[in-house]
Amino acid sequence: MTGTATRAHWDTLLDAARNAHAAHAKLSGFCTFPDDLTPAQPAPNRIGAAGLMESDPVVRSCTHPLAQALLGGSPHAQWRETYKGTDIAQDFLDRFGCYCLIGTGGAFTSRQMGAFVVYMPPGLHYPCHQHPAEEMYYILAGEAGFTREGEAPETLGAGDVSFHASGQPHATATHDLPVLAYVLWRNHLGTPPVWTPGQGL
Ligand SMILES: [Fe+2]
Repeated sequence: MTGTATRAHWDTLLDAARNAHAAHAKLSGFCTFPDDLTPAQPAPNRIGAAGLMESDPVVRSCTHPLAQALLGGSPHAQWRETYKGTDIAQDFLDRFGCYCLIGTGGAFTSRQMGAFVVYMPPGLHYPCHQHPAEEMYYILAGEAGFTREGEAPETLGAGDVSFHASGQPHATATHDLPVLAYVLWRNHLGTPPVWTPGQGL
């Protein structure tokens, strides 16, 4: 695929993200959609989760335009390996998926907001972690349990959001279904997540 065609994919994905942002009060309330976007050229990096997401029937059948645009971006994305080399099972590294749309390694940069996709296949536990950025998960497809320190656990599905405060430990688990989420960050964009010491919630 030419660079021009790949760029068109990213522009389509950005439009879908902007539209989703405008259509959901909690997303637009979390952060104004950035007005300082700069195109970038992520070097593609493929990991196991990319193929799992691309072949997942729940993701493929999701009619949300943003889900389809995120699927379209997958082959060109720089899938992250945030937790490689940390104290985590290989199965998690093989199946947990995250790529950036706006931010480091993404197709756009901004000093105002980060935007990512997170994909987890069925039966995966994303242990307790934290980061100084404030975060909002917007569930596009599937279902997952969210655990946040100091709050009652919740099972969330399409259209739901989960807010994580700065430094608040949080964890996610899928069971029978996968989950596909669009994830926003605001403030402290440059500090990656770390496992919560003890990982207990
Ligand atoms: Fe997080």
